[in-house]
Amino acid sequence: MLQKKVHILTYGCQMNVSDSEKIGSVLRGVGYEPSATIDDADMVILNTCSVRSKAEEKIYGILFTMKGRLKRKPNLLIGVGGCVAQQEGERLLQKVPHLNFVFGTHTLHLLPQMVRDAEAGRRVTETGFIDDDHRLDLFPQSGEVAGVTRLVTIMQGCDNFCSYCIVPYVRGREVSRRPGDILEEIRRAADSGCREVTLLGQNVNSYGLQDGAAADFASLLRGVANIDGIQRIRFMTSHPKDISTPLIDCFADLEKLCSHIHLPVQSGSDRILAMMNRGYNRADYLLMVKKLRSVRPDILFTSDIIVGFPGETEEDFQQSLSLLQEVRYSDSYSFVYSPRPETKAALLPDKTGNEEKVERFNRLLALQKKLTIEVQSPMVGKRLEVLVEGAGKKEGQMYGRTSGNRVVNFSAEAGLAGTLQQPLIVRNFQNSLLGELR
Ligand code: 5AD
Ligand code: SF4
Repeated sequence: MLQKKVHILTYGCQMNVSDSEKIGSVLRGVGYEPSATIDDADMVILNTCSVRSKAEEKIYGILFTMKGRLKRKPNLLIGVGGCVAQQEGERLLQKVPHLNFVFGTHTLHLLPQMVRDAEAGRRVTETGFIDDDHRLDLFPQSGEVAGVTRLVTIMQGCDNFCSYCIVPYVRGREVSRRPGDILEEIRRAADSGCREVTLLGQNVNSYGLQDGAAADFASLLRGVANIDGIQRIRFMTSHPKDISTPLIDCFADLEKLCSHIHLPVQSGSDRILAMMNRGYNRADYLLMVKKLRSVRPDILFTSDIIVGFPGETEEDFQQSLSLLQEVRYSDSYSFVYSPRPETKAALLPDKTGNEEKVERFNRLLALQKKLTIEVQSPMVGKRLEVLVEGAGKKEGQMYGRTSGNRVVNFSAEAGLAGTLQQPLIVRNFQNSLLGELR
């Protein structure tokens, strides 16, 4: 019999990238090998994101174009998973007649039966949340551990209910994976050549707090640092209100912990932060930044910022601009506010027009571009240590990232992947640095 093939399309965050790997591994168990191109596939899976409405709309567009593909290959199976699937459930099957199955963020482990049903011509939806007794089923062990860098899920879900955010509704309550399972996965990865791990979760610094997972986040970091072969540790995403003293201590004394933290601030205005239900104000945030810088002077900060939250005035927006300048982020990701179903903010009156929001967004982007160049500028003329990850931008180039998470391209042989190198930084571009190994 010919080998069946699946092509997985991933949208949204790193958590989805990690989930797609798990989906691939579960599907391999029921006879589907990954296919490099969609044209060869017998099954296509869309792993979706619903954090902003644009991301959600995109999925419907892609599903629509699948109709043409089905004409050429009538037996093609199509499944939708991830956050849009969780949000829409059965409705997706009703809206898209050529869709075969819908699975949510808590049902990856049910995929084998769903695929069998789909192969037998039954259309199925599984979007229930896992109950307490089965919570660890959320983390099916991934068979694959190869790669120089690896994303390792340590927890899922979010209990914070920021007023704009759909994540708590589509990912459910916080659940932490067992520390032993996490360390075991990382040990296996290190044995097969992995040098850097990124510990992943919607809210990593509340790891273990909700269910007594037998370790808190700082102890977990220390456990990972003890694994031979792992040279670098990163994590994302952490919430500013949960940065604990033990975590700051990790930045003080864990050499393997990289000098970068993604610490989304969302807004620089106290009024908006309160409306967002973020649990900290501008001064609290700046104090965190100061504490982290005092123990790790070269630490680089990145952030997410929402522009045009309901009721945001020009004055509030100016506060976001000034906070960007005060922190001097090496990078930030800005988003125009998008009302999401079920969230509290979606009910708030919003008088600011879209044009005005886009104009604010562009001003923020321009400021960040300037800051990125300024933050990177002192790196030119220095040797920075990078972990070589793979082929770079141009032919004959490799790329790596600095401890501060800046990308460096440099001419080198492919054999260097997985090694630490010290290129001399010679040019400063917006999205990367150019280095030389000489
Ligand atoms: N509108 C715009 N941006 C949002 N984000 C989350 N929800 C929304 C929304 N409703 C952004 C936040 C978050 C990032 C992943 O997406 O900045 O940190
Ligand atoms: Fe969403 Fe806030 Fe949870 Fe982040 S912390 S996932 S923004 S609710």
